[in-house]
Amino acid sequence: MTPHLSVRLRGRVTPPGDKSVGHRLALMGAIARGRTRVTGFPPGQDCARSVALVRALGVDASLDEDRLTVEGVGADGLESPAADLDAGNSGTTARLACGLLAPQAFDSRLVGDESLSQRPFDRVVTPLARMGASLETTSGKLPLLIHGGRRLHGIDYELPVASAQVKTAVLLAGLYADGMTRVIEKLTSRNHTEIALRGFGVELDEAAGGVGVSGGSVLRGGDFRVPGDFSSAAFFIATAACLPGSDLVVERVSLNETRTALLGVLDAMGAQIDVEPDAIVAGQEPIGTIRVRGRKLHGTTVSADRLPAMIDEIPILAVVATQAEGATLVDGASELRVKESDRLKAIVEGLRALGADVEERESGLTIHGGSELRPAHLQSYGDHRMVMSWAMASLLVGGDCTIDHLDQVKISYPGFWEALDQLAH
Ligand code: S3P
Repeated sequence: MTPHLSVRLRGRVTPPGDKSVGHRLALMGAIARGRTRVTGFPPGQDCARSVALVRALGVDASLDEDRLTVEGVGADGLESPAADLDAGNSGTTARLACGLLAPQAFDSRLVGDESLSQRPFDRVVTPLARMGASLETTSGKLPLLIHGGRRLHGIDYELPVASAQVKTAVLLAGLYADGMTRVIEKLTSRNHTEIALRGFGVELDEAAGGVGVSGGSVLRGGDFRVPGDFSSAAFFIATAACLPGSDLVVERVSLNETRTALLGVLDAMGAQIDVEPDAIVAGQEPIGTIRVRGRKLHGTTVSADRLPAMIDEIPILAVVATQAEGATLVDGASELRVKESDRLKAIVEGLRALGADVEERESGLTIHGGSELRPAHLQSYGDHRMVMSWAMASLLVGGDCTIDHLDQVKISYPGFWEALDQLAH
């Protein structure tokens, strides 16, 4: 039996700026002609890494609270960095930087923290090498040396795994390559790069199942607004959905459909969620308001084709599935093993410690809802999304859990603990 849960999430929250969008605007703003002004720039450490990276390449980028101004230097204006470029924990900074740096005239070296140094980079090196670039990994990982001065040529590249990071790296390199560079996806990954490139005035070729850029396309600086990060809001949305009596309003949040598949899954679980889109602003990401009222959920099956649009939300879905009646199945999720931690392993270990009934597969999970949860020590492996998932799990247990690396929320959601404090009643 599920214990009686007395906790609820009530109130209004505005999530921090979308991390994926922030990275792209910082990097693209750097190689645009003219000034780019961004409002709602994400406050987390990950996007700060992308800002630091463009500064290290000689670009004037200044942050004033959530306003970023980048004085674009144009495609050929980046300067050779004086030292290693440190992406910290940020896979997006590092992978996107590969695409940006491979066509430059100078050499560069990318490094990252312990977690990032265990993550695969062959996925970006392979297509870039096919374009004529020269990148040297350390056994497929960081540190990574990028040899400049190579002339790149356009390719058609079919992504072997759905990855917006790889898609973006190839398209950024394609801006510098001879001819057309096309990326073909079997499953559509997040499309922030496409939206941002259009916002910078680049024409995209979006023929059947792919997206292409012409080498030599010019980016023109502009004004952008970053939507609230759906992946940050998801911790509160999913938890509120399963807690009867909850009534949560999430404001100015991204409604980009390549990100919000969790809403459809929660809906299939019986959640009560209302979405109110704001008016569309040309060249900007769609945003709106999401209202969630809590009720008892039931299990569901998440099909593999939904995964790319909710890849970062599986940990919190797994936590919430423990509260549902019946089983929740997730498949096609092997990418979770190479995120900031092996998230499938971390989820299974933590949920079992809490007393939940979970099956682990190489590329998925089955969570049998309805077990009574008990307090436990929950390991996050230094992964910001695991910390926030465990925070929500401990709310369901009624406290007394311990979680390691609490401070890691700073990667994507520095205000997470304050927001939780305000919403939990
Ligand atoms: C991201 C893409 C996803 C996601 C990551 C951010 C991006 O990774 O998990 O948090 O901004 O492009 P993959 O491209 O590896 O799927």
